[in-house]
Amino acid sequence: MLEIIDLKKSFVQPSGEPLQILEIPEFRVEGGEQVVLLGRSGGGKTTLLHCISGITSTDSGKIRFLDQELTKFTEPMWDRFRASNIGYVFQTFNLLPAFTALENVLLGMSFAKDVPDQEYANWLLKRVGLGHRLNHKPDQMSVGEQQRVAVARALANRPRLLLADEPTANIDPANQQGIVDLIKETCKEFNIGLILVTHTMEVAGQFDRIDQLEDINLVSTELAAGMPEFEKGENQS
Ligand SMILES: Nc1ncnc2c1ncn2[C@@H]1O[C@H](COP(=O)(O)OP(=O)(O)O)[C@@H](O)[C@H]1O
Ligand SMILES: [Mg+2]
Repeated sequence: MLEIIDLKKSFVQPSGEPLQILEIPEFRVEGGEQVVLLGRSGGGKTTLLHCISGITSTDSGKIRFLDQELTKFTEPMWDRFRASNIGYVFQTFNLLPAFTALENVLLGMSFAKDVPDQEYANWLLKRVGLGHRLNHKPDQMSVGEQQRVAVARALANRPRLLLADEPTANIDPANQQGIVDLIKETCKEFNIGLILVTHTMEVAGQFDRIDQLEDINLVSTELAAGMPEFEKGENQS
């Protein structure tokens, strides 16, 4: 379903010098497969998700998904494709603060459809356990509830792939497991492929396929080696 071949990505540093972040010879995810990407802070996990979702452009290489070559997409092609096929759950939820839970999900739908499906949005919010919070705005909800809205929004267009970037990093410990369970279960229920990024074994250990970023990304070892000793610890986000 998703195939990455010889992907390279670098950023221009403030000094003007390029810094290579990703060099991935090969990475594949089958339809409906659940993959955890485990790797230390600064290793390029978020950058990789940004490349897969077209938030960031790539330098070279191919990303194929659903028989299309995403790396050849123009910006308008990306907008439509991303809205219809890729769900994204951010570490910091990224809900629109002026809108209710229901409106946030409906807005997510409006990028892919001309007429948002109100009934499905209601159903999704009930599915994530928020049937009683439809008309609450983000600041009227707990962080766990906000991330549940974000999961509902990410599922709103029945995507084929869900990208979840450290989805429990800003959630209180009591609600972390609920979010992991929700993502796992809904992806399975709707046959959605999942790439979940984390830096903790506690989250990763709950999935069958765990890919260490260092094993798939040839530069992440060098990046980590260049970091000061105190930043090499496990629990960085
Ligand atoms: N827009 C950017 N410009 C320059 N460097 C960046 C940019 N985004 C990320 N980086 C650098 O790329 C590296 C990888 O970042 P990131 O993908 O966020 O890692 P992770 O998610 O694994 O913690 C970091 O060293 C970071 O400083
Ligand atoms: Mg990150």
